[in-house]
Amino acid sequence: MDFKSIVSVVADDFAAVDTFIRKSLESDVPLIHEVGHYIVQGGGKRLRPLVCLLTARACGYGGSRHIEVASIIEMLHTATLLHDDVVDESGLRRGRATANARWDNPTAVLVGDYLISRSFALMVALREPVVLDVMSAGTVVIAEGEVLQLINQRDPDTTEERYLQVIYGKTAKLFEVAAETGASLGNRDYQSACATFARHLGAAFQIIDDVLDYTSSADVMGKNVGDDLAEGKPTLPLIQAIKAAPAAEAELIRDAIRTGGLEHLQDIIAIVQRCGALEYTRQRAQAESEQALAALAPLPSSPFKAALEDLTRMALTRNS
Ligand code: IPE
Ligand code: IPE
Ligand code: MG
Ligand code: MG
Repeated sequence: MDFKSIVSVVADDFAAVDTFIRKSLESDVPLIHEVGHYIVQGGGKRLRPLVCLLTARACGYGGSRHIEVASIIEMLHTATLLHDDVVDESGLRRGRATANARWDNPTAVLVGDYLISRSFALMVALREPVVLDVMSAGTVVIAEGEVLQLINQRDPDTTEERYLQVIYGKTAKLFEVAAETGASLGNRDYQSACATFARHLGAAFQIIDDVLDYTSSADVMGKNVGDDLAEGKPTLPLIQAIKAAPAAEAELIRDAIRTGGLEHLQDIIAIVQRCGALEYTRQRAQAESEQALAALAPLPSSPFKAALEDLTRMALTRNS
C-alpha cells in the first residue's frame, strides 16, 4: 500500500486535522500567524497525527476527539522542529528555508514556544485526563532526549546504547504519545500494545532518517544532506563505522565527529557504505519495525490496523 492509500482509510479525519491546526494558529500577533502558517504550508508528512487517528479507530473509537488530539501532537512536533532547526543550525526544512533562516533564531524559538503553550492550552481544554497525563509526561521525555543528544554531540565514544536512548526521547516518544493517546480514546485494553508498537515504529523511523542523512538528497528529502555530520552528531552509521572500518578510516570518522563540519563528507559516505555500516543501520531499523508489528498483533483485524502495518513497512523503504 502507498501513503495515499494509508491516509485514505481516515481521509476525512486527516483533512479535519489540517483545518484544526490552521485554526489553532490564529493569533492577534501577526508574526505568529505568519511564521506558523509558513511552516504548516510547507506540509510535512503528518505521520504522528496519522498514527493517532489510526490507533484510535483501530481500538474501536467512534467519536471525533481524536482529531483534536492528533492536531495537538502535530503542533508539538512542529514546535520541536522550529527549535531543532535553531539548535542544528539547519537552513532547509520541508523543501523551503527554515524559519530561523527566513526570519532569525529569536523568531523561531519564540514562535516554537507559542506553539507549545497553545498545545498545552488545547490539551487542558480537552478534559481527557489520560491524554493530559500521557502528553505532558511525553513532552518531558522529548526535551530530555534533545538535551541528551547535546551531551553526545562531538563525542566519538558515544555508544549505540546512548544513541538509542537519544532517539527514544527525541523521536520515538512522540510517536508513542500519538498511539497511546489515540488508543486511550477507544478500548484501553490495547493502550499499552499501541504504545509499544509506536515506540518501535518511531525508533525505526529515526534510524532510517539517520541513514538518509548520508544517502539521500536535498531535493528528495527537503532537508540538507550531511546536517548530522556538520554538527558532529554520532548517529548509528558513524557509531557502527567506527567499529567496522579499518583503523585509519575509523580515526577519520572520530575526528570528523570531534570537529564537525562537512570537509570529509564524501569520504565518510564512502566509508560507511564500504564497511557495511549503512547496511547494519538499516537492519537495526528493520528489527525495530518487526518489534512494532509484533506489538500490534493482539489488536482485532480492521482496515485501520492494516494501515498501521503498512505504515510500519513503509518507514523502512521511505526516501523522504
Ligand atoms: C522530522 O520528522 C524529525 C525527525 C524525527 C526525523 P518528519 O520527517 O516526520 O518531519 P515532517 O513533519 O514530515 O516534515
Ligand atoms: C529531530 O531530530 C527531532 C526533534 C524534532 C525533536 P533531527 O535533528 O535528527 O531531525 P532533522 O533531520 O532535523 O529533521
Ligand atoms: Mg535537526
Ligand atoms: Mg536535531
